[in-house]
Amino acid sequence: MTTTPVGIHDLSFATTHYALDHAVLAERLGVDRDKFYLGIGQERMSVAAADEDIVTIAAAAAQPILQRHGTDNIRTVLLATETGVDQSKAAALYLHSLIGLPNAARVVELKQACYGGTAGLAFAAGLIARDPSQRVLVIAADIAKYELDTPGEPTQGAAAVAMLVTADPAILALDPISGLYSADIMDFWRPNYRSEAIVDGKTSVNAYQKAAQEAWSDYRRQGGRELGEFAAFCYHQPFTKMAYKAHRHLLESQGHTAEAADLEAAIGATTTYNRTVGNSYTASLYLGLASLLDHADDLTGKALAMISYGSGSVAEFFSGTVRPGYRAHLRTEANQAAISSREMLDYDHYRALHEAVLPTDGAYHAMPEETRRPFRLGAMSGHKRIYEAR
Ligand code: CAA
Repeated sequence: MTTTPVGIHDLSFATTHYALDHAVLAERLGVDRDKFYLGIGQERMSVAAADEDIVTIAAAAAQPILQRHGTDNIRTVLLATETGVDQSKAAALYLHSLIGLPNAARVVELKQACYGGTAGLAFAAGLIARDPSQRVLVIAADIAKYELDTPGEPTQGAAAVAMLVTADPAILALDPISGLYSADIMDFWRPNYRSEAIVDGKTSVNAYQKAAQEAWSDYRRQGGRELGEFAAFCYHQPFTKMAYKAHRHLLESQGHTAEAADLEAAIGATTTYNRTVGNSYTASLYLGLASLLDHADDLTGKALAMISYGSGSVAEFFSGTVRPGYRAHLRTEANQAAISSREMLDYDHYRALHEAVLPTDGAYHAMPEETRRPFRLGAMSGHKRIYEAR
């Protein structure tokens, strides 16, 4: 029986107005900049302006998709984040007025650390398998924030990726097989009363590697492809070096050697955007996919491995095949412009943004006008966020 392929039909990403170079942070922290540039594989991090949050970057990522494809038959919108702006209302509901989502749709927010976007993709694929005429908008948006002067600080970042998931997709057809692994572990978490994550760094690195390997084992048990079939491996990238570490671990666990050149061939092209954007939690894996598609030689018909990890923890190993003609549907120029147009911060400005807290008194507070991106948080008033399109 042949079934209609389901997968990613369009993919668009947005990031914040500001960025900080890791050389600035290294100087401030008194460490060699190569610890960041080479040791963790990060050169810059996106930093949210005072008038940006996950809603503004999610809207900026999703708008080009609606402009290209319209909203017909988008009956589900799934927004994954671990930087939610409300404990009750789904962040994507703000997108109705900002970018014109259809009213005849279910709109839900998903949370499981950096894994939430992958849950969204899996749920979307299931809905479309049930009714191939429907389309699902999946958005992953996060702003990663750790305490100042901690080992996590250089792994901050921010981005949103929006994906239109459809039958007969133009970019990537998803295989119906997934490998899954979940376990209760305290490697990274953020209690409701904190704006910064708490992390046990070394535990988290080991937990990620174990979970990726276990998800791979489950993928194989479910009848998935062999390691040698994949043209590239897209990993969740809390810092780009993590993808190399995890792939080395996976290869060695399967009795393969992991030569530097092999690792580079498998991972290298997936890291270009993450290296300069930083950790974007739920969006990170899909930013890796965008980077691969934008930078690798022709991938038509090639199988890609996708490895998702969310602390706490859930991992999923899944795969897909790149569709013929995919290059005509990429947004390479816009993706590169989103990164190159960021305004570089000095340390004091970065620190002031990091330490700023939103007013909680319910009075009217206009936000400083900083971002030049398409959407901004204009004010807080009556405990509501008031957004503006520029
Ligand atoms: N030149 C080149 N390399 C250098 C160097 C220099 N001058 N100085 C140090 N290095 C290398 C080190 O040798 C080390 O390399 P290896 O990992 O290959 O050994 C690397 O730079 C990092 O150095 P440290 O291990 O000393 O770094 P650290 O302890 O200060 O911080 C970290 C590392 C604990 C992972 C920290 O970045 C962190 O806490 N990050 C947040 C948590 C995180 O990202 N975890 C990842 C898994 S969890 C996950 O994926 C979910 C998520 O998104 C959070």
